[in-house]
Amino acid sequence: MYCKSSLCKTMQRRKRLGLISAFGLMLFLWKTSPYTCTGHLTLHCRVRDTVASLWRAEGEGPRKPCNCEVCISQQNVSSWFDERYNSTIEPLLTAENQDIPVQVQHWWLKLQGSNNGSYLPDILSKMFKVIPPVSHSWARGNAARCQTCAVVGNSGNLKGSKHGQRIDSHNFVLRMNGAKTAGFEEDVGSRTTHHFMYPESAVNLQPGIHLVLIPFKLLDLKWMTSALSTGDLRFTYMKVKSFIQADKDKVLIFNPSFFKYIHDKWTSHHGKYPSTGILALFFAIHVCDKVSVFGYGADSFGSWHHYWEKNRFASAFRKTGVHNADFELALIKRLAQEGKVTFYT
Ligand SMILES: *[C@@H]1O[C@H](CO)[C@@H](O)[C@H](O)[C@H]1NC(C)=O
Ligand SMILES: *[C@@H]1O[C@H](CO)[C@@H](O)[C@H](O)[C@H]1NC(C)=O
Ligand SMILES: *[C@@H]1O[C@H](CO)[C@@H](O)[C@H](O)[C@H]1NC(C)=O
Repeated sequence: MYCKSSLCKTMQRRKRLGLISAFGLMLFLWKTSPYTCTGHLTLHCRVRDTVASLWRAEGEGPRKPCNCEVCISQQNVSSWFDERYNSTIEPLLTAENQDIPVQVQHWWLKLQGSNNGSYLPDILSKMFKVIPPVSHSWARGNAARCQTCAVVGNSGNLKGSKHGQRIDSHNFVLRMNGAKTAGFEEDVGSRTTHHFMYPESAVNLQPGIHLVLIPFKLLDLKWMTSALSTGDLRFTYMKVKSFIQADKDKVLIFNPSFFKYIHDKWTSHHGKYPSTGILALFFAIHVCDKVSVFGYGADSFGSWHHYWEKNRFASAFRKTGVHNADFELALIKRLAQEGKVTFYT
């Protein structure tokens, strides 16, 4: 409508101003909405991320690597962390990176007994016919995502902790070895998304859970194939499960290169090699944006046992001599001090 009177012109100007401020308000509300983007990118997240990056392009600080308040992989928060952290080493072994570097093979093959590495390519190619050769579920560096992870150790200090709900509220819940939830939900939670194990510590899993195999020797890779197919392999250095109940499509293999990286950079050769608990924790540190740690270390009596054991003198983890439990615990405390993980005790 063409305006003649000055009153009409003022009205039109007001209408334009109103529209602009309404749009601005919407943008503001939308940018600051509490909805966090997790897992897959929704359109909302993608658009918001684009807007956010344009916003930052206006000369603000460096781009945040994730959408949490604090992101683990954020640089310049802790120089101690930055010196050790290397995001280029893939946590998982896939058909694409199955050519394990020679110096890693050399170290890894000697961890438990002597293993003849010339059989490795054959063992891996057989394994990747039974389990998925590639895993796409860990897109790192997703600025729109805030992926939270709870790493739950098996320490007796969980007993009576009432951490169950808090643990279950994370996107991923990582457990290991003989971890149980039934009957302990109030203290340890009920959800599991990833269960770390090796043949001698293997347990059956509910559908939908990722079995993460930590291979300590060649036979462990062979066992994974066998336990999901023929059931031929029943013995390693002890009797093991010949079959395992788990989703074949969700099986993941811990990368020996990543294993060595943790031994070199994080536990710095304390102990013969890092424990399952430390390996699972660093897995989380490399695939999650925010990590909470539960159930590590001794209980309040200084005893190292599992939360499901009645006898608190039952477990001899600390005395195995293979791992250095004191150094590993100090490492977790340091990670917490440096603001990289939240450590619940
Ligand atoms: C970290 O600090 C260094 C030196 O001050 C700087 O050059 C670099 O851009 C910073 N990186 C990030 C991601 O903030
Ligand atoms: C990170 O690891 C890769 C692969 O092993 C290596 O080439 C690179 O030099 C490492 N980066 C740092 C900063 O250590
Ligand atoms: C490993 O196995 C290959 C193939 O069977 C054999 O030629 C080689 O001598 C073996 N090496 C060792 C150190 O046993």
